[in-house]
Amino acid sequence: MRIIKNITQLQKALAAARRKGKTIGFVPTMGYFHEGHLSLMRRAKKENDICVVSIYVNPKQFGPKEDLKGYPRDVRRDSSLAIKENVDIVFIPSDNATYPHGYLTYIDVEKISRTLCGAFRPGHFKGVATIVAKLLNMVRPDVMYLGAKDAQQVVVLKTMVHDLDFPVKIVVAPTVREADGLAMSSRNVYLSPQQRQQAPALYQALRQARTRIRQGERSGAKITGMIRKIIASRTDGKVQYVACVDPDTLKPLKRLRGNALIALAVFFGTTRLIDNVTIRLNAPGKSKS
Ligand code: PAJ
Repeated sequence: MRIIKNITQLQKALAAARRKGKTIGFVPTMGYFHEGHLSLMRRAKKENDICVVSIYVNPKQFGPKEDLKGYPRDVRRDSSLAIKENVDIVFIPSDNATYPHGYLTYIDVEKISRTLCGAFRPGHFKGVATIVAKLLNMVRPDVMYLGAKDAQQVVVLKTMVHDLDFPVKIVVAPTVREADGLAMSSRNVYLSPQQRQQAPALYQALRQARTRIRQGERSGAKITGMIRKIIASRTDGKVQYVACVDPDTLKPLKRLRGNALIALAVFFGTTRLIDNVTIRLNAPGKSKS
């Protein structure tokens, strides 16, 4: 495995691979790997000749009051985990390389960047879209692997890739969870023991909502209301939002029909956790997920 920090070196290494007809799978990350990240690497390696993983804590996607400085980092540990997954290249660009002095260009995927998480994190998805566009231009992969855990990020990046004609396929992999159901996240290390104990209630609430929908409930408000109630009764977390939306347009669903994305964000102290489930309604009263 090679660790590359320089864009020219990266492009040289990848051009050589491409000349040999090798396909490239790409996993963009902010590091501090957990099983969620590793599952994406495994899949990228399995489905491509070469797996490239980027580690970059992108300052442009953090708000002024967010955790950029404290974001957990451990490049040595990440590198040894990447070696175990047979990753070929770990790309770790510097701030100077990504946003040199005089940097002015941003990508704004309108509308769908403003709802759900975007409503509370202005500029976040502009930062995400901008860095991922840059990384796609640097790596030029055949396939990019993203986690379903960040459902809105997936919709924003799919839209960007479509709108700007990036020649890349996107594969979305399922959310990897702890044994008790908590979605894996680099930010889980911030949780106190008590918060960690309460946090699985988020997924429990989402699962109960899914069961209720399978039993026939179709009112978006009733579903989100029941999720809020469960979280309030089992945790000290403060709900930022719970939403029942169309998985493609992210528009709120008053009545569930077709597919639905149920997404939430909850603060445990200063730690913000997100989670979601997608529900596929095939016939009235029935769903497969
Ligand atoms: P990061 O939070 O490090 O996540 C990197 C990738 O891992 C994302 O595609 C994310 O959805 C996926 N992921 C995170 N937790 C997961 C889980 N429990 N199960 C499955 N996949 C999971 O997302 C980012 O970084 C950044 O916004 C980035 C796209 C790299 C742009 O800076």
